[in-house]
Amino acid sequence: MKLAIIGTGYVGLVTGACFAEMGNEVICVDADASKVKALKQGRIPIYEPGLEDYVKRNVKDQRLSFSTDLTAAVQQSLICFIAVGTPQDQDGSADLSMVLQVAREIGRTMNGYKVIVEKSTVPVGTAVKVRRVVQEELAARGEVWEFDVVSNPEFLKEGTAVDDFMKPDRVVVGCDDVQVGELLKELYAPFVRTHAPIIIMDVVSAELTKYAANAFLATKISFINEIANICSRTGANITMVRQGIGSDRRIGPLFLFPGLGYGGSCFPKDMQALIHTARSQGYPPRVLEAVEAVNQDQRRLFFHRIADFYQGDLKGRTFAMWGLSFKPMTDDIREAPSLTLIAHLLEAGAKIQAHDPEAMAATRQYLENRPEVRFADSSYAALKGADALIICTEWAKFREPDFERVKSLLKAPVIFDGRNLYSPDKLASLGFQYFYIGQKLD
Ligand SMILES: NC(=O)c1ccc[n+]([C@@H]2O[C@H](COP(=O)([O-])OP(=O)(O)OC[C@H]3O[C@@H](n4cnc5c(N)ncnc54)[C@H](O)[C@@H]3O)[C@@H](O)[C@H]2O)c1
Repeated sequence: MKLAIIGTGYVGLVTGACFAEMGNEVICVDADASKVKALKQGRIPIYEPGLEDYVKRNVKDQRLSFSTDLTAAVQQSLICFIAVGTPQDQDGSADLSMVLQVAREIGRTMNGYKVIVEKSTVPVGTAVKVRRVVQEELAARGEVWEFDVVSNPEFLKEGTAVDDFMKPDRVVVGCDDVQVGELLKELYAPFVRTHAPIIIMDVVSAELTKYAANAFLATKISFINEIANICSRTGANITMVRQGIGSDRRIGPLFLFPGLGYGGSCFPKDMQALIHTARSQGYPPRVLEAVEAVNQDQRRLFFHRIADFYQGDLKGRTFAMWGLSFKPMTDDIREAPSLTLIAHLLEAGAKIQAHDPEAMAATRQYLENRPEVRFADSSYAALKGADALIICTEWAKFREPDFERVKSLLKAPVIFDGRNLYSPDKLASLGFQYFYIGQKLD
């Protein structure tokens, strides 16, 4: 099939490369000319394991191309996927300006029947808005073309995005027309050969499904963090409690790790958007609000743990920080807990020596080269002369460090672990003062 993917970011690029891998002809469009130029030169603008091979192979086989020319892409394609960002607006709702802008441009340029697919995460009612602006543009041109608007939310995870797209747990398609549903089923059939379901539903339900999925996962994270905070007051062992509940099949072991809370480009904004949707319908979403509040608190509590250890005096202290990305295997720092901690630490007069395998360039740019934050080429280089080590992201290489070397490089053997990577007994026997999430308070 001929496909246009509009918005070539984390979702659009993976979507485009994976559809091309299955033999479709895909044009990925982006408004950012420098991104398109880089992709045309074979440079992948994001870190996503496995993606480069897919992109290179499909570009070489001429099934995948990149362009800034939305008109040509739309005119050549039957299905147009909208995969632009939907950031949080000032009132917490999803900012749909980019989605509607693309919809307008599709309406301005379409030259035949099109299926317009919402791949971006968009709130209930967006398909109606997309339909309206496309129709307005057609009317302004005095043209009449049939089109359908479909909701096909994306569930990939950064870090395993290619695998997730190639082998989805399920594909959700929201559409009001049986034939369009069949077309999307045909497109996705090669991805679900192992019987993952393609769930066809109405558009509104598909739009809400994406938010409900993210909200449930966020709830699991805040839930286990709340239990960890109860552990720290009762002396219960959070690792044991986690295992004890996670082995119940009704609960499951995934997304039950205590830590610094959720971040990234999706959960925080999607939670806010869902809360906004509920409130605007006159329903106070108490569970969702509590999940968000616990998440915000988690970062603050961890910072206070650090500050308390130094009796509130962090001025002039230097902290090594391992991990900046919001989770491992990505260079994405959007809403990363590390950034909140860095802000608190800098405000308190501390300095930071950070290391991350992939996210240092993005963080350097975000912090606009603040001199109090130095970036180290290796995890060990970050430790040199620091008062303590702070762990923000659970990259695999941080899991089994040479603790003797860590000790010899730090000014004092102190670790604040926001991801519970180590055994408290082992660290104590090695002479570390080790602080982790859920630890009993003194
Ligand atoms: N990142 C994820 O893990 C993930 C997972 C599932 C769903 N989503 C959702 O997918 C959507 C996209 O997320 P993302 O992380 O890929 O965003 P992103 O910011 O990485 O990419 C969006 C791209 O759209 C481009 N763009 C903006 N306006 C444009 C226009 N008018 N024409 C062409 N291109 C334009 C931007 O230049 C950018 O490259 C969001 O709604 C997000 O919530 C993201």
